[in-house]
Amino acid sequence: MCGIVGFVGNRQAAPILLDGLSKLEYRGYDSAGVAIRNGSEPAKVVKSQGRLRVLAEKTDNGRTLLGTCGIGHTRWATHGEPSKKNAHPHVSGNCTGSGSGDVESEVVGVHNGIIENYKELKEKLLKHGYQFYSQTDTETVIKLVDYYFKKYGDDPVNAIAKTMVRVRGSYALCLMFKSHPGEIWVARKDSPMIIGVADGETYVASDVPAILEYTRQVYYIGNLEIARLVPGEVTFFNLDGDEIRKELSEISWDANSAQLEGYEHFMMKEIHEQPKAITDTLSAVVKDGRIDLSVFGLTEEEVQNLSQITIVGCGSAYHTGVVTQYVMEDLAKIPVRVELASEFRYRTMLLPPNSLVVVVSQSGETADTLEALRQAKEKGIRTLAIVNVMGSSIAREADKVFYTMAGPEIAVATTKAYSAQLIAGYLLSIEFALVRGTISEEKYLEMMGELWALPAKIEKILEDKERIQWFVAKQANVQDVFFIGRGIDYAVCLEGSLKMKEISYVHSEAYAAGELKHGTMSLIEDGTLVIGVVTQKDLFDKTISNMSEVKSRGAYLMGLTTYGHYAIEDTVHFTVYVPKTDEHFTASLSVIPLQLMGYYLSVSRGLDVDKPRNLAKSVTVE
Ligand code: M6R
Repeated sequence: MCGIVGFVGNRQAAPILLDGLSKLEYRGYDSAGVAIRNGSEPAKVVKSQGRLRVLAEKTDNGRTLLGTCGIGHTRWATHGEPSKKNAHPHVSGNCTGSGSGDVESEVVGVHNGIIENYKELKEKLLKHGYQFYSQTDTETVIKLVDYYFKKYGDDPVNAIAKTMVRVRGSYALCLMFKSHPGEIWVARKDSPMIIGVADGETYVASDVPAILEYTRQVYYIGNLEIARLVPGEVTFFNLDGDEIRKELSEISWDANSAQLEGYEHFMMKEIHEQPKAITDTLSAVVKDGRIDLSVFGLTEEEVQNLSQITIVGCGSAYHTGVVTQYVMEDLAKIPVRVELASEFRYRTMLLPPNSLVVVVSQSGETADTLEALRQAKEKGIRTLAIVNVMGSSIAREADKVFYTMAGPEIAVATTKAYSAQLIAGYLLSIEFALVRGTISEEKYLEMMGELWALPAKIEKILEDKERIQWFVAKQANVQDVFFIGRGIDYAVCLEGSLKMKEISYVHSEAYAAGELKHGTMSLIEDGTLVIGVVTQKDLFDKTISNMSEVKSRGAYLMGLTTYGHYAIEDTVHFTVYVPKTDEHFTASLSVIPLQLMGYYLSVSRGLDVDKPRNLAKSVTVE
C-alpha cells in the first residue's frame, strides 16, 4: 500500500522521484524517503516522517541530492510505527543516526508488501552478525539480499532469486547495489509494479500515475520475476536466472488526467469526470448500438446455460456488485450472489460448474479480490474481471477482462471508477438478458439509449451541486447519519454511507428500509439525520412509510428521489431530485448527490478529502 518510484537516466533523479512520489502519496503517507547515487559514490539516503512535503523541504525539492540513479518510497506503516527510522529506503549495513545520511552498505532498497516470515529470517541474520536498526520487515529482506550477495559471489540476480525463494508474503522490491552503479534491480510477487522506458531513461513505479508524465511505454513485470534497469533498457530474469523476453505495452491514459487541473481536490475533479468515464466505458464496447458478447468472454450457449453468477469485490467495488445483483436478477433471471472478497476467500466456495465468477476492482491489485479470483480459477470456474487499471494483476490473471475506462483515479474515495463499474454491470445484465430472451430486442435498444443518456443527466445534477453544499453546511456538526432505501436504493445507500464515513469521519450506516424496525430504530433520536433514497416506483410508498416512522421518533429527513415523485415533500424536511431514467439505472444518478454530501462534509470539517486518515487507495495486503 506504500508507493515506490525509481529512476535511472541522464537527468537528476531526486526531483523526478519526488514528483513521482507526490502522485502516489495517496497510497501511503506516514513517512517518505529517497536514496540517490551519484556515479559510483555510495547511495545517499534521506528520510523524513510525515507528509512528502517534509522530505521535499529538507532536500530543496531534491536539488540538494545529486545523482542520476535513485529510488524513493512513501510509506503506509504495517510493521513498526510511523517514524524516520522505520521509513524506507532501508540499508544492509548499520544506519547512521535515525536512518538518514551517507551509508556504506552494499544494498539499499524500498519495499511494498508484507514479508510474513521476517521474524524467522531476522533470527537467521542475527546469527550471521547482522544488526537491525528498525522494526520493519523490509530491513530484513534488504539484509537477506546482502547476505546472499556476499555468499554467492556478487551476483544481483542470484542474490535476489535466493531471497525470493526464502521469503513468504508479498513484495515489490526496488534495490541498488553499491558495486553496480547506474543500475536499479527490481523483483515482485503479488504487489504491483510497472517499468517505463523513454529515450535513455528507465522508470519503475508501484502505480501508473507516478510515471505518466514521463512515459507511456511500459513493461509489466510478472510474479516472481526480476529485472535490471539501466538508462533506457530493461532486462528480465526468471527465478532460475534465465533471461525472459517481454513486449512493451502502451498506456492509453492521458497525463493530465492525473493532475488537479484547477480543482481543489481530486475527488471533486473525479466526480465531474463521471460523465466522461461512463461515455468512454460505453464507447469502448458498444458498436452500432450493440455490445459484442465476446467482450465478456462467453458464447451465447454459455450464457444460456449459466446457472449462477458470483460477484466478488471489496468496498465500493462490492457495492457495485450489489446493484448488479438487482439488475441482473430482474433482467436476465440468473441467480446472483455478491460476496465480500475477504470473506469469500476463506469460505467453502460453492460454485456450480456452469457458473461465472465476476471480480470487480478499480486498482486490479486488491489482495483479497486477487486471491478470490485465484481460488475460483483453481476450481475450474470461468472468471471475468471488471478492472480499471490496465495490466494490473487481476486483469492479467482473469480469464477475461472488461476494462472500465475511468482513467486514473487518485482520490482514495472512489467515484468515477464506481460509476464505470456500474455501467459494466448494466451492460453485462442487458446483454445476458437479450441472449436468454428475457428482454425483447426493443427493450434492449431502449435500455441502451438510456445508458447513453446518463452522462448528460449527471451533468444536470452537478449543475445544482451548490444546493447540496448549502444543505451540508447546515449539517456540519452531525454525529450520526442513517441511509435507508429498498432494492437498488438500498444498494446505493451502502455506497453513500461509505463515502460519508471514509472522508468525513462521521458515523453512518446504510440500512434496508424494512430492517430498521428490527433493531436500528432504537438509535434514532431528536435530530438524527436520516437520508431516504426513493427512486423505485413500486417501493415508493413502502420506503416513505419507513421514513415517516423515523420522523415520528425525531429524525431529520432528507429525501433523494427522481423528478415527479413530489409527494415525498409531504414527509421529508429537504428533498434532492435527480432526473428520471430506467429504474434499473437509478443508482448512477442517485449516487452523485451522496458523493457530493460526503465531499462537502469533509471540506466543511477541514479534513484531507483526497487522503483520509488510515486509508490507502490500493489495499494490496489482506
Ligand atoms: O481497487 P479496488 O476497487 O479493488 O478497491 C476496493 C476498495 O478498497 C475501494 O472501493 C474502497 O472501498 C474505496 N476507497 C471506497 O471509496
